[in-house]
Amino acid sequence: MTPRSDEFDTASATLAADGWCLIDHLLSPMQTLALADECHALHDAQRLTPAHVGSGRVRSLLRGDSTLWFEPDALSDAQQVFSDRIDVLRIALNQNLLLGLVDEESHYAMYTPGADYARHLDRLHGNDARVISAVFYLNDAWLDAEGGALRLHLADLSHRDIYPRSGTLLLFLSAQFEHEVLPATRNRMSVACWLRQRPMMGD
Ligand code: OGA
Ligand code: MN
Repeated sequence: MTPRSDEFDTASATLAADGWCLIDHLLSPMQTLALADECHALHDAQRLTPAHVGSGRVRSLLRGDSTLWFEPDALSDAQQVFSDRIDVLRIALNQNLLLGLVDEESHYAMYTPGADYARHLDRLHGNDARVISAVFYLNDAWLDAEGGALRLHLADLSHRDIYPRSGTLLLFLSAQFEHEVLPATRNRMSVACWLRQRPMMGD
């Protein structure tokens, strides 16, 4: 039997207590850079497309990013490294918090200067598959003055601004935390990932 890893124990405890947490050791700087380079190249090649909300086909006024879903059967090397580490995290969260997370879905996102995403919840209408939202940031040397924070709205009506610095992974409970993306003055890249349970509602 593989020995149980304790590397995500602190994150699990914080997630259980607060409903959200930050992790800074998901990937090495080189592995993070490989994702950033790929996202940048795919954006230059116009492979990212304007995002939709829910199952809608109409470009939304709610969000200004462009996205490209990872294809589970055709991951690039950089995506495979990310996916393998997210699996280690998923299994650790299942062991520590008995969450029953069975799989994940991920997409690259690019917000060009001025693009934002209005305040929202990540649960899709009528579907409770998404349990944990995991946003991994790819932006080297980000300055707070450049904007682009993810603003996480907390139950006590206060908020936390998380800046999209490369290597930062933000986790929060998808059903509970409204959040928004504030506009930035430079390109802002991320991988948005959802850890999912077998849906009790929806399909
Ligand atoms: C989303 C989202 C946040 C971010 O895609 O649902 O909230 O910081 N993304 O990219
Ligand atoms: Mn979201």
